[in-house]
Amino acid sequence: MAGVRVRELRKEFPGGDPPVVAIEDISFTVDGQEFVSVVGPSGCGKSTLLNILSGIDTATRGQVDITQNGRPARLGYVFQSARLLPWRSVLDNLLFVQPARGPADRERCRRYLDMVRLGHTAGQYPGQLSGGMQQRVGIARAFSIEPDLLLMDEPFSHLDAITARSLRRELHDLWQETRKTVLFVTHDVSEAVELSTRILMLAPGGRLVADLPVRLPFPRDPAADEVALARADLLRRFESLDLLAG
Ligand SMILES: Nc1ncnc2c1ncn2[C@@H]1O[C@H](COP(=O)(O)OP(=O)(O)OP(=O)(O)O)[C@@H](O)[C@H]1O
Ligand SMILES: [Mg+2]
Repeated sequence: MAGVRVRELRKEFPGGDPPVVAIEDISFTVDGQEFVSVVGPSGCGKSTLLNILSGIDTATRGQVDITQNGRPARLGYVFQSARLLPWRSVLDNLLFVQPARGPADRERCRRYLDMVRLGHTAGQYPGQLSGGMQQRVGIARAFSIEPDLLLMDEPFSHLDAITARSLRRELHDLWQETRKTVLFVTHDVSEAVELSTRILMLAPGGRLVADLPVRLPFPRDPAADEVALARADLLRRFESLDLLAG
């Protein structure tokens, strides 16, 4: 379980006049086994935030600390598309990101492939798998390095509704089994309500406009009254953001 501290974080992209402000001075902290969704309309800075947290991009200003018991935390990243190496087998895609590649590492990679029910594809190549299966390999790969913090950027948005639903369940089970801290970007309000213990809402211009705990027991049935109510509340907030954006 990781601790995330973000202080007065700002990201500007130069080039325009004035420069694009992708993240406007946001602060938040996440502690322990939380599943935090980051929601907001397209272009409000969700991917930029994840990229800065992961170190893929740098902030213009502000501070990010991601620690695990006082030392720097280990991060896993699941991208919007699986980004597998097509010339390596499924198992080798997982092995490739391991710090070491001994028998124990191979065994661990196999275990995470089994957890997403793809153990039988270990020797196949990504091109032989469907998009949903590739995305599951991407999820297994992120879990296989046993990260303290898992960053996920709209991992199911390219998938059909049925596949997305079963992957959501799988992800949720993995999260409960492994007790990771998860930061999960989505623009799908139902997905956020179904999965999260907490929801951060970004508005256009990269402003953090809401930090909402979701205190409903798991598993959450999307058809249950209290889940529907939470979804309606979030949707209302979401729609008012679009009005603000104009
Ligand atoms: N490399 C870049 N150079 C210039 N501007 C950028 C760059 N990356 C992102 N931006 C701008 O920063 C803002 C935030 O982009 P970002 O990709 O973080 O949004 P997002 O919330 O992830 O959107 P989406 O839901 O469509 O993925 C946008 O205005 C975008 O045009
Ligand atoms: Mg994005």
